[in-house]
Amino acid sequence: MILEGLVTTLSREDRVNLAPMGPRVEPAMTRFTLRPFRTATTYANLRERGEGVLHVTDDVLLLAQAAIGAIEPWPVLRPAEQVHGHYLADACRAYEFRVITCDESGERAAFVCEAVHVHRLRDFFGLNRAMHAVVEAAILATRVHLLPAQEIAADLRRLAPLVEKTGGPRETQAFDLLSTYVARQAATQER
Ligand SMILES: Cc1cc2nc3c(=O)[nH]c(=O)nc-3n(C[C@H](O)[C@H](O)[C@H](O)COP(=O)(O)O)c2cc1C
Repeated sequence: MILEGLVTTLSREDRVNLAPMGPRVEPAMTRFTLRPFRTATTYANLRERGEGVLHVTDDVLLLAQAAIGAIEPWPVLRPAEQVHGHYLADACRAYEFRVITCDESGERAAFVCEAVHVHRLRDFFGLNRAMHAVVEAAILATRVHLLPAQEIAADLRRLAPLVEKTGGPRETQAFDLLSTYVARQAATQER
């Protein structure tokens, strides 16, 4: 199944990149497959460095900010122990990994990764419809160049009540951020 997580990688120049990614995972999480598009910085960094850190988190505001490249403020990062890289101090779990194989034949590259060190940092909040809605909205925001603007707007209208009814301040902030981003992108495309 797919786990919607956050991945940190390093560029050749040691610049940290943080991006939402949905790897294919097994429950044991000893191995997983990251499938970045070739346009993603994560793809370039994995090809270059072959390692990184996959995070399990319930911080959907950070996920939303990372999805649209608007991380503010940057979260606390700690140096990884077994790979060159960093992990998010406030994640629930962090899996330091190394790439074992890379398959470039598909539309997306497929990096099979092996977890080499796990940080169990804090409890996961639990299931929540607003968080789910923000994850969906974040995915939509990363597809503004692929999907019709009306379709995205309709999906956001359907998701909004979930955030209003079940979210806290961070979910509301995340959803507002994504809605504003999507509206701006749609206006830019119309011009
Ligand atoms: C929950 C979620 C999961 C995502 N999963 C992937 C993925 O598996 N592969 C991918 O290429 N992009 C995925 N994206 C989109 C990327 O996060 C987005 O394109 C981002 O800008 C890539 O960042 P980067 O260029 O810094 O690597 C996902 C987005 C979200 C919100």
